[in-house]
Amino acid sequence: MKTFAWSCLVSWTLAGTTLAAKFPISAWQDASKQSVPGNAVPNKFIVEVESVGDIPGKREVETRNPHATLYSALRKRDVGFQVNKEFNHEGIFVGASVTLDNANDRKEILQIPGVKAVRPLIRVPAPKPVSVHVVTGVDDPALPPDSESTHVLTGVDKLHAQGIAGKGIKIGILDTGIDFTHPVLGGGIGPGFKIIGGFDFVGDAFNGLNTPIPDPSPLDQCNGHGTHVAGIIGANPGNEFNISGVAFEASLTSYRIFGCTGDTTDDIIIEALLRGVSEGQDILTMSLGGSDGWTESSSSVVSSRISDTGKIVTIAAGNDGSKGAFFTSSPGNAISSFSCASLDNTVEQIQNATVHGVTHDPIPYFDLFPLAINGTLPIFATSTDTTIVDDACDPLPDSTPDLSGFVVIVRRGTCTFVQKLTNVAAKNGTLALIYDNGTGFSAIAVGNFTATSIQADDGVFLVNAFAAGQKVALSFPQSGGSFALPDPTGGLISSFSSFGPTNDMFFKPAITAPGGNILSTLPIPLGSFGIDSGTSMATPFIAGVSALLFGVKGNTPSVGIGARTLFETTGQRVSSSHTDGDPLSSVAVQGGGLVDAFSAITTDIVVTPGEFLLNDTAHFKPLQTFTVKNNGPAAKSFTLSHVPAGTALTLQPGTPFPADGPVPLSTDFATVEFSETSFTVHPGQTQKLTAHFTAPTGADSSVLPIFSGFIVISSADETFHVNYVGLAASLKNAQVIDTSDVFFGVDLPALGASDGSFISGPSNFTFVGDDLPTLIMRLTFGTPQLRIDLVAPDVNITTTSNQPGFSSVTKRSLFTFPNAETLGTFAQVKTLGPLFEFDFLPRNSDVNVRIKGAM
Ligand SMILES: *[C@@H]1O[C@H](CO)[C@@H](O)[C@H](O)[C@H]1NC(C)=O
Ligand SMILES: *[C@@H]1O[C@H](CO)[C@@H](O)[C@H](O)[C@H]1NC(C)=O
Ligand SMILES: *[C@@H]1O[C@H](CO)[C@@H](O)[C@H](O)[C@H]1NC(C)=O
Ligand SMILES: *[C@@H]1O[C@H](CO)[C@@H](O)[C@H](O)[C@H]1NC(C)=O
Ligand SMILES: *[C@@H]1O[C@H](CO)[C@@H](O)[C@H](O)[C@H]1NC(C)=O
Ligand SMILES: *[C@@H]1O[C@H](CO)[C@@H](O)[C@H](O)[C@H]1NC(C)=O
Ligand SMILES: *[C@@H]1O[C@H](CO)[C@@H](O)[C@H](O)[C@H]1NC(C)=O
Ligand SMILES: *[C@@H]1O[C@H](CO)[C@@H](O)[C@H](O)[C@H]1NC(C)=O
Ligand SMILES: *[C@@H]1O[C@H](CO)[C@@H](O)[C@H](O)[C@H]1NC(C)=O
Repeated sequence: MKTFAWSCLVSWTLAGTTLAAKFPISAWQDASKQSVPGNAVPNKFIVEVESVGDIPGKREVETRNPHATLYSALRKRDVGFQVNKEFNHEGIFVGASVTLDNANDRKEILQIPGVKAVRPLIRVPAPKPVSVHVVTGVDDPALPPDSESTHVLTGVDKLHAQGIAGKGIKIGILDTGIDFTHPVLGGGIGPGFKIIGGFDFVGDAFNGLNTPIPDPSPLDQCNGHGTHVAGIIGANPGNEFNISGVAFEASLTSYRIFGCTGDTTDDIIIEALLRGVSEGQDILTMSLGGSDGWTESSSSVVSSRISDTGKIVTIAAGNDGSKGAFFTSSPGNAISSFSCASLDNTVEQIQNATVHGVTHDPIPYFDLFPLAINGTLPIFATSTDTTIVDDACDPLPDSTPDLSGFVVIVRRGTCTFVQKLTNVAAKNGTLALIYDNGTGFSAIAVGNFTATSIQADDGVFLVNAFAAGQKVALSFPQSGGSFALPDPTGGLISSFSSFGPTNDMFFKPAITAPGGNILSTLPIPLGSFGIDSGTSMATPFIAGVSALLFGVKGNTPSVGIGARTLFETTGQRVSSSHTDGDPLSSVAVQGGGLVDAFSAITTDIVVTPGEFLLNDTAHFKPLQTFTVKNNGPAAKSFTLSHVPAGTALTLQPGTPFPADGPVPLSTDFATVEFSETSFTVHPGQTQKLTAHFTAPTGADSSVLPIFSGFIVISSADETFHVNYVGLAASLKNAQVIDTSDVFFGVDLPALGASDGSFISGPSNFTFVGDDLPTLIMRLTFGTPQLRIDLVAPDVNITTTSNQPGFSSVTKRSLFTFPNAETLGTFAQVKTLGPLFEFDFLPRNSDVNVRIKGAM
């Protein structure tokens, strides 16, 4: 029998799909050439080995050089391999990133004594801001009065007023690099500057797939993400934009792990993290990640271990809120680190245009700075029909006058803004306002054109006035026109912020910070300042608050280890909407709430723990204990209460498919009984308490309802909470494999041929070139293990999934394969050999998985 070398598993995203859509058979053929699920890189693994410290007195000779020992064991076993990187940080991570000639040798490596884990190498997507708005306008001395709104929301302004700004604390930023020539970031790099150092692990041209070319300078003038992140932590106050970093006196180090575009990989993240540890960073921050749902990726494990040493590691929760629950990112899922969620800023700083010729209020337009337009210009509307859906998508009619000297008014819809503006420019138009069509008043992508958006009502007013022959004109005040438009979603969790918890019910995200509509620095060639949105913006905010905490309490391991509990227990609870009576946002998307830096840093009360992990009904932990300690000078009296959050209904009813965001909430709440409901804690004393939970009874377990909320501990002047999260269902009942025909019109899993057809009966393959069978499948829930075996055509398979012990899939004893070439059984079914095995796979969103084989 031949050895199976099924090597490829392809996953790809079908953009913009809805569950109702069926895909043509060829859809799965258009897959990218990516060949493993999730973001794993084919044939590359990170091997972790025991270090000398792990085995005192034992096998000391062999482990003195753990790397050499590993390589010689690999050679002895005829494993073909190449070493890409070595890691050697005693107590945190010892191992190597390797490329194997044959991915199936992974199992062989696991059997080598001293090997602790073999994890796939994960590609981590570039930190993608949700929207970018580059500021290019002229300086306005009156601007912007409210740019510190994020600091006011979180009490950072009160700490700054006391002179607390993170002095003496070192923060390492793993990102796209920083434009350290930016004057607001100190204008240089090295001792004495704000940015005290850094390293470029990858070079400009790195994209996650090619070979990194390191160099000493982490300068980034091509991407900008890291510069925006750095400004959120460290922008010097006193700039023309009146912004400042949360910890503008902290010292920053830039670890550049992304090139100008593309992804990075786990081994580079680990290398940068370990360098940050050895260079004495107090805080490491990473605005990056890929949706995952598990806590087990190599960079998650390393981040968590670094957190356990008392350093603070802040990581983005992810921008996949639209994809539903159980979908937070790694490495953000690191058990002991901070996974950071995003809240929308309360204001959007925009400009007003002045209306002439008729009486009308100033018209707000979406730009942080005034359009550089002098004088008063008449308007011209490309259509007088304010309901037209494709205004200016086609070349404008011959009757159109020369549009130079006009403000051209165009309705949003159908084609891109740039296409509309190109048509306007063909008539010499140089300035346009595009009015909203109900999609939302927001920043728009206008390429090189001078144009911006206005609200629907204002557009309709201008077009009707134009149609009526009124002589309407507009001017754009170069100062004094700045307007703080209240953001309708301000103060709520950003719709893009990823929804947890992990697939094994760990509490992710941990805490929320402002991340939607954040003004910060950009590289000088990219405009110097801009507004970005994303959990990427929330993450450095938490790093900054952590620096304020270390600055006040000392940068000791005990402060670092207690930080997450402190921030979670002092957080501000966030509602799911601005409508009275709506429930609080699920803890699975807001964590412990919006960080309250001032309370966290100034309170004398310590509540522990910060999280009750109640788990699912099969592993329910209803009885929880917690303590309230008084480090203050006076006795304090408290009352306990239960404040539930909305119960998240995470599947679409009647289907195994995730409910897309915003995940629907119900008011079927858990109930809680306390050991006492009021108590007094004297100075230096600790009160121990218990809470006994009953899961909600009304919730339909088939939609995997996540219930959550807060045990609130209130005194006359302060309030704290312990967060809880549980599942009113058993995760064993979650359907993992999509067996429906919803995506392709045939029941999945299915086999496909190279011509794009599905195979329904016996077929012959040459296994030459593309002539291979392809397995097409999707996961509706993450799985700790996916394994595919080949069986003979006449084998009888009975469902064994309810057999005792079957669910403990990680028990290797279930598998009887000494190696890939031997016959074996799986759960009593006779098999010919394993085709594929992978651990800790995320579920698909609208993403399909296919497995391609070659024998
Ligand atoms: C800058 O922000 C501070 C703090 O929010 C505010 O007091 C001050 O008025 C602002 N300055 C200008 C010029 O807007
Ligand atoms: C901007 O326009 C809005 C809406 O017309 C108005 O409420 C606001 O007062 C104006 N602000 C400034 C600074 O002109
Ligand atoms: C507007 O006028 C000012 C002062 O006269 C001049 O410096 C500037 O270049 C003009 N801008 C434009 C866009 O014409
Ligand atoms: C645009 O301007 C050029 C140069 O002034 C002129 O020749 C041309 O006719 C104008 N185009 C239109 C459509 O008015
Ligand atoms: C508004 O424009 C967007 C973008 O083209 C389009 O998807 C949407 O259907 C339009 N809405 C209306 C009401 O025209
Ligand atoms: C903007 O203009 C520059 C120079 O004319 C050109 O190279 C670039 O492609 C333009 N960009 C866009 C988005 O149109
Ligand atoms: C929930 O229970 C499962 C099964 O015992 C366990 O693997 C998992 O770690 C638990 N989750 C938490 C957050 O304790
Ligand atoms: C596969 O090939 C064998 C040998 O040529 C032939 O006997 C058989 O009919 C083929 N099966 C199919 C389904 O084409
Ligand atoms: C499968 O089951 C049928 C009916 O019980 C039996 O005749 C057949 O031999 C079985 N096949 C195998 C491979 O065990």
